[in-house]
Amino acid sequence: MIEEIQENKSISMPRIGDKAPEFKAVTTQGDINFPTDYKGKWIILFSHPADFTPVCTSEFMTFAKREPEFIALNCQLVGLSIDGLYSHIAWLRTIKDKIEFKGMKNMEVKFPLIEDITMEVAKKYGMIQPGESSTKAVRAVFFIDPKGIVRALIYYPLSTGRNFDELKRALIAMQTADAFDIATPADWQPGDDVIVPPAGSCGVAKDRMENKEEGLTCHDWFFCTKPLPIENIKTH
Ligand code: BEZ
Repeated sequence: MIEEIQENKSISMPRIGDKAPEFKAVTTQGDINFPTDYKGKWIILFSHPADFTPVCTSEFMTFAKREPEFIALNCQLVGLSIDGLYSHIAWLRTIKDKIEFKGMKNMEVKFPLIEDITMEVAKKYGMIQPGESSTKAVRAVFFIDPKGIVRALIYYPLSTGRNFDELKRALIAMQTADAFDIATPADWQPGDDVIVPPAGSCGVAKDRMENKEEGLTCHDWFFCTKPLPIENIKTH
């Protein structure tokens, strides 16, 4: 955990590779034991600043619409804000009953939304960034793998709604890296070539430069790619 003292304010946050901090919480879908309840699944744990705010509303409608895409990728969505359960319920009912945005309407949020009035969870996960706000969680996104390990973190300020295509792309990229022992280059999309592990010996480096490894395209000895057909990747 990173401990940072900033103007007498202590921020702790999990790092990539850490075990996801555990907690019990009340949510709009009942009590949860995190991350134990979701063992064997990927989890996207995300925070938002407050209920009944416009950017958050647009994000929740989008997540609700796209939840089936994440479920298909064995990924559980879990939201959080520093609001109480009744505020959460009222806000989700308003979204379903009244809000229409970009062709989305009657959007029902079926994934759990954590109440965190005490900020216990938000503090554990470094979602309170005092330079931005000391009473609202920033837009943090934690990707947690099926073994309960934090695999990626993305943080956005209060003013900026998240890009859900990128959240899905990052999830598929991590799942693909795990399944095929590869890495993915800049702006990778499923179906694009992937990066193979770097040459581990002078002999392999030489072979690669002499095009002796079939199916590889080498830009240099340390940078070789190969096709990974989209049919082999779980994308939906
Ligand atoms: C919003 O979700 O609209 C929002 C929340 C806090 C600050 C600014 C915008």
